[in-house]
Amino acid sequence: MGRTLVSLDLGGSKVRAVQFTPGRGGPTVEKIAVAPMPPGAVVGGEVRDAAVVGGVLKDLWSREKLASKKVVFSLANSHVLVRQMDLEWLAPDDFRKSLKYQAADYIPMDIDEVTVDHHALREVEVTDPATGQTKRMLQVLLVVASNETLTGFLDALGGAGLRAVQAEISPFALVRATHPTARPGAGTEVLLDLGAHVTNLVIHEGGQPRYVRIMTGQGGDVLTTQLAERFGWSVEEAERTKVALGMPTFQPAGAGAGAGVGGTVFGGVATSAVPTDEHPAQTLINESVSRLIGEVRQTVDFFFTSGAEVGTLARVVLTGGGGNLGGLAQRLSSELRVPVEHGNPLEHVSTSRRAAVPEGVTPQELATALGLTMGAS
Ligand SMILES: Nc1ncnc2c1ncn2[C@@H]1O[C@H](COP(=O)(O)OP(=O)(O)OP(=O)(O)O)[C@@H](O)[C@H]1O
Ligand SMILES: [Mg+2]
Repeated sequence: MGRTLVSLDLGGSKVRAVQFTPGRGGPTVEKIAVAPMPPGAVVGGEVRDAAVVGGVLKDLWSREKLASKKVVFSLANSHVLVRQMDLEWLAPDDFRKSLKYQAADYIPMDIDEVTVDHHALREVEVTDPATGQTKRMLQVLLVVASNETLTGFLDALGGAGLRAVQAEISPFALVRATHPTARPGAGTEVLLDLGAHVTNLVIHEGGQPRYVRIMTGQGGDVLTTQLAERFGWSVEEAERTKVALGMPTFQPAGAGAGAGVGGTVFGGVATSAVPTDEHPAQTLINESVSRLIGEVRQTVDFFFTSGAEVGTLARVVLTGGGGNLGGLAQRLSSELRVPVEHGNPLEHVSTSRRAAVPEGVTPQELATALGLTMGAS
């Protein structure tokens, strides 16, 4: 019998738990449990009220009879930094021990108040311009999380009698959840996970994460709140309307106008094209989502023009509940000029018969929790 673990995605709108047993050929998912997160308890990817979150977890464990108190959790918020850098090559054990001190020079936080981790990318030779000597370096994605933000998660888990055995940043989990290794030749992809108040962007090549951006204060619930405030609706009404309407569809203003916006971000398309639907709430949805798409495009443009040694962008894969917004995939596709697909994290994963996706839950919103599951050992 293998040991049982639970991976946990504490989102602003929902908590998602996946019970599984790790195995040599990959994990087996035994149960998927989802519960709503009370508003305000997790915001921008941070645990704001550990007691409330602890209570939610306790109820979830007892209602779903989850079989393990050992938890693997994910995090992504503004207290988590991910940077690519070259650090001095050392044997793996020594490298790990020295990581914090090597990293100290590069991070704008007190080294004693953070936890440092890394994802190794490749070995590189760097020539010192002063001496002309070459040095063996390890190129890494350095991950730095403030101890304070980690404490929020650990307090919530502790309040429910759970124990963290592993933690990972959500963007790394997302890469696994979209199964790049099961799709040889998939090339360079942008993964975009749109949550309630966090949007994660990852650029990876063949499953190797190359760039990570965690955007907080952007997401589906932020838009819902804007709609409720602007139109005097309740949050429920605003949410219903947003889901029903989605993005407006646009007709190009004239022949070739779609391609003729060259260089400008989405605002350029919006003004030069004719909306086919004129619901006033859609104007706001369009403004808000266009801003986000503009940022995504800028980030992707910057990555590809700043000397990244990767192939051209093959596609965008959307996950997270917010990725379901009607018309978003089409708009992103016309902006970035690549196919946009919805990720299915349940593909290529062994599941036992009890592991049904709860009603009202889409596979895309399970991406983080399932990606954690695939990476846990
Ligand atoms: N069909 C849909 N159309 C538009 N938006 C949707 C749809 N389904 C879900 N959403 C939105 O998805 C958002 C929640 O996404 P998700 O469940 O991935 O967030 P979360 O993981 O709980 O939060 P976060 O990652 O920001 O902490 C909500 O704002 C919700 O309105
Ligand atoms: Mg999320």
